Amino acid sequence: ELVFLRQEDAPRLLAFLKRFFFRDEPLNVAVQLLGPRHDQPCVPLEEYCAEALQEPLSIAAVAPGSGELLGVCLNGSNAPGHADEARARAAACPHPRFRKILRLLAEVEAQADLFARFPGLQRLLEVRVLSVDGACRGLGIGTALLRRTRELAAEHGFPLVRCDCTSAFSARAVDRLGFYPVCTLPYDSYLGDDGRPVFQPEPPHTQVSCYVYKV
Ligand code: ACO
Repeated sequence: ELVFLRQEDAPRLLAFLKRFFFRDEPLNVAVQLLGPRHDQPCVPLEEYCAEALQEPLSIAAVAPGSGELLGVCLNGSNAPGHADEARARAAACPHPRFRKILRLLAEVEAQADLFARFPGLQRLLEVRVLSVDGACRGLGIGTALLRRTRELAAEHGFPLVRCDCTSAFSARAVDRLGFYPVCTLPYDSYLGDDGRPVFQPEPPHTQVSCYVYKV
């Protein structure tokens, strides 16, 4: 069952994401976002997730009856100038490990340059966080959330959906739904000042791709 997430869902949403996304998204794993024992907070990521609830565009898959969260897709709108905002937000992030991730995403967004790539585009719907309960993966829940997000974009008049896939599994899901990649950054070519890759996620996660879907 798919439902909308509302602002009052923030506490249970964050509890869910701290169990799963914060620990198991490939880049969060690669930088040990919560520290080696998974016991340190990442307040800027909590804020990033909670902020998505300000717009009525985020959805969840819940267990019938109990209403327990099984998966979430946090979505938000972007307008021209968003890439610059993302870069500024990355630079200002006080959490060094999360800052690395925000910088990579800002770089991908700058390279994708969607508002220049699609002339006349004034707004788009961005998939910011996609996360499914670790015990329920591979059952199509992520795909169902993305499919509903695609419908929401049509209902709200967004001409484009964007999803930056840091995981090979989310890339596979959007690819099957007719999204296509406009820009890809292999992790082994994204180097830090020391000349070494900033992220070395576990296989099969080898790249981040900005996928788009024309509504
Ligand atoms: N091993 C191999 N393939 C897998 C696995 C796995 N462990 N998990 C999912 N897949 C494949 C599926 O087989 C399917 O491909 P197919 O259609 O060719 O069979 C595809 O991934 C999507 O499967 P779904 O069942 O629809 O996706 P799921 O409900 O498992 O959710 C998700 C996918 C959200 C990426 C989940 O794996 C997850 O929560 N991962 C950790 C967080 C994460 O990485 N999120 C995405 C980051 S990008 C972003 O947030 C915008």
